[in-house]
Amino acid sequence: MPSDPHPPELTDALGRVSARLGIVGSAVHFFRETSSTNDRALELAREGLVVLADAQTAGRGRRGHAWFSPSGSGLYVSVVLTPSRARADSARAIRLLTLTAGLAIAEGVQTATGLSSDVKWPNDLYVGRRKLAGILAEACGSPEGPVVVGYGINVQPAAYPPDLIDRATSLESELGRPVDRLLVLAETLAAIAARYDDLLEARYDAILDAWKRRAPSAAGARVSWTTAEGDRSGVTSGLDADGALIVRTRQGIERIVAGELRWETGNEE
Ligand code: BTN
Repeated sequence: MPSDPHPPELTDALGRVSARLGIVGSAVHFFRETSSTNDRALELAREGLVVLADAQTAGRGRRGHAWFSPSGSGLYVSVVLTPSRARADSARAIRLLTLTAGLAIAEGVQTATGLSSDVKWPNDLYVGRRKLAGILAEACGSPEGPVVVGYGINVQPAAYPPDLIDRATSLESELGRPVDRLLVLAETLAAIAARYDDLLEARYDAILDAWKRRAPSAAGARVSWTTAEGDRSGVTSGLDADGALIVRTRQGIERIVAGELRWETGNEE
């Protein structure tokens, strides 16, 4: 599917950070509207490719959820990365990729706007109890191959569907002022490039330490989840070296690597 010409403001915004982008943004495909930027990125799957859309008609989130993607009110971006290229421990780099991306996006948002957000395991961005941004990573074929990291950031308040009204927030509602969407795009891409470099160069502790500083709920929060044997619950107790969430339960320590956690409101520290 052919992309649309870059608006001049997009060219300017990317030009201002070009020295910090490394391979990220080696090609940038812009669509006024597309089904999902992840679909377009999966079709080409070249490292560094960025796909950006003003609106998505079939934006998707994790675990089959839809991602509300009306024109102009959010950033809808996908970046193709290849963590298996990591210098030291490529399996660990693959496991840490989405955590790294969540951290980078929080850092880029803060550089662009001054707004500090928390990361919530594995990679959602929250301000207080409301979700600001989410990430959907999809592998192109084998886990050793390129991975599409798609992220959506709510920039302006939108007419959210009823199930999201009380759970979503946006940069403009938090800051109470207009936000330059393309500056947020440029700074999040630059932050992804910097943290991707940390990942490829095996600076795992730098990534994990910075992630933990932004993740108050990774220690001392009450969580529950469903297993084949029934519902489980416990209290978060940090991350391990591979980015798995450690949870203390009555039965002992559990290591959560994937799946849907329910964060019990009112008990988070
Ligand atoms: C989630 O929190 O469930 C993840 C949401 C990811 C949404 C982004 S928007 C850009 C990219 N394209 C998609 O279809 N999804 C991701």
